[in-house]
Amino acid sequence: MKPESYPSPAGAVIRLEEIKRHFGPVQALKGISFSLFPGRALALVGESGCGKTTCARIIARLDRPTGGKLFFRGQDLAAQGTAKDERLYRKDVQMVFQDPFSSLNPAFTVGHHLSRPLQLHRQNMSRSVLDEDIAGLLTSVGLDPAISKQKFPHELSGGQRQRVNIARALAVEPSVLVADEPTSMLDVSIRKDILDLLARVKRENELAMLYITHDIATAAHVAEEIVVMFAGQMVEWGNTEMVLSNPRHPYTQLLLSAVPDGGRPFVTGGSARFLEQAERVRSLSRPESVVIERVGPDHFIRALGAQT
Ligand SMILES: Nc1ncnc2c1ncn2[C@@H]1O[C@H](COP(=O)(O)OP(=O)(O)OP(=O)(O)O)[C@@H](O)[C@H]1O
Ligand SMILES: [Mg+2]
Repeated sequence: MKPESYPSPAGAVIRLEEIKRHFGPVQALKGISFSLFPGRALALVGESGCGKTTCARIIARLDRPTGGKLFFRGQDLAAQGTAKDERLYRKDVQMVFQDPFSSLNPAFTVGHHLSRPLQLHRQNMSRSVLDEDIAGLLTSVGLDPAISKQKFPHELSGGQRQRVNIARALAVEPSVLVADEPTSMLDVSIRKDILDLLARVKRENELAMLYITHDIATAAHVAEEIVVMFAGQMVEWGNTEMVLSNPRHPYTQLLLSAVPDGGRPFVTGGSARFLEQAERVRSLSRPESVVIERVGPDHFIRALGAQT
């Protein structure tokens, strides 16, 4: 594997180098390498089971890789860190999950959900400063503090709950935000609003963001860079616009062909025909190939098998 095939790690907050993870015989990740940079997002795209969440969990240190290296600000995280390092890392790397309901405690108000991380982050806050910060966070995610602060999760819509989850992640001023399918359980009509919000908080807070989705058409809304995954491997990656406008790997082409025409990018296939085509790509491509081809200035694919 040529190291120059991957984006330069200079200034990267997070860097994965040939990360592998197997669960018994299942090779969930077969060597994933990418970097996350401040103020930029990377979209990790691929079908169900290709390894996206496994990747997210490894970055959030909720899981450990079975091979490869994970770097944080240039430091190899395999080296035994102190408990304090681990705590700081877990604060610095925040996650937003798919299910906006199960990630909030039904017994607590929105204000309470935000006061906990705020108080942990900055000890001995006065009540008035805390109230101001809660209001500021809610406003920054597009919620009216006067209305939403006293509400319980069940009194909010799915989109509002996801906004609270984003506010809670921002409360500790992280440098990395991992959003794992943040809109897939939301009503189609509000998905774009949440993606716009993620793009804005990324910009305003200089966040290094990982945006995970199976919906390739939404990648461009949030992410400057894209990695298309197939069966635990990166098959195509680079600048989002270059990859989406000129997809070179048959799997990426297949994902894009499943996006309906007519400006409705927030719906995806899953039809029998799509699955049939995916199976065809699977048999044609050789995901184990280690040959990387540079097909554009910032655009790479994993070389295809001899059959193609
Ligand atoms: N804890 C685990 N034990 C065993 N196998 C696992 C575990 N976690 C993930 N896997 C397997 O690893 C592979 C990748 O799973 P992962 O959840 O990362 O996929 P995904 O891309 O997030 O899929 P989805 O789009 O459905 O969320 C799958 O084959 C899955 O069954
Ligand atoms: Mg997943």
